[in-house]
Amino acid sequence: MGSGSKQVALVVPAAGSGTRMGEEIPKPYLTIAGKTILEHTLLQFRQVDAIHELIVSTSEFFKDQTCEIVASVFGDIELTVIEGGAERQESVFKALQYVSDSAELIAIHDAVRPFVSKQLILECINEASNPGVDGSILATPAKDTIKEVEDAKYVVETPKRERMWQAQTPQIFKREVLLRAYNNATMRKLMGTDDSSLVEMIGGKVSVIKSTTDNFKITYPLDFQLAKLILSGK
Ligand code: CTP
Ligand code: MG
Repeated sequence: MGSGSKQVALVVPAAGSGTRMGEEIPKPYLTIAGKTILEHTLLQFRQVDAIHELIVSTSEFFKDQTCEIVASVFGDIELTVIEGGAERQESVFKALQYVSDSAELIAIHDAVRPFVSKQLILECINEASNPGVDGSILATPAKDTIKEVEDAKYVVETPKRERMWQAQTPQIFKREVLLRAYNNATMRKLMGTDDSSLVEMIGGKVSVIKSTTDNFKITYPLDFQLAKLILSGK
């Protein structure tokens, strides 16, 4: 297993304000075991040799700190820190403008998923390199039955649980397809809740790599407590 010779650009959106977390400091900059969550996340990708450039979107206030963090983790690849936008999609779109032409694949990963494993990153890169697909994403089979609900009140239907998967990141795509997907969504003012959905909108074929719930997104205070337990015990 390996990524072959494919060059991978890594895009990390870290410009959110962490409303659901409710802390004054945005999630990527909260500290656990002496390191920011952003640093913990980047350290997982540091183990992957195929990554040849990194672009992080953040807010103006955290630009300097972010430059320090990325430089301390990745000394030897091209590093870019930019200002993100009001929505994750905009933060990623802005970052995509800095991806170099030499990138064959673009991997997008939330700054607040510090538990992704090297093994799963490599599997996802490998799968996204496959000529039969436009990209690949990590996802887990839904644990609960998922209901489609209208007006936050009435059940519309219950899709078969075996077909329901919960999307995570990284989400990795061939560069040209991802740029086309983001340009299409931006031009037509379409919003998606992940990167894959924008690729799906242009008819792209995306495959799933079965992940684990370890790769959870730090979203609520309870997630942060769990992350602290896991990282402090390491
Ligand atoms: N993100 C971003 N730009 C935004 C919003 C989110 O770069 N305008 C990033 C976050 O920093 C995070 C990732 O996208 O790393 C996933 O977003 P989410 O977990 O929703 O983080 P927040 O938007 O910060 O949190 P909330 O939705 O609770 O406000
Ligand atoms: Mg958000």
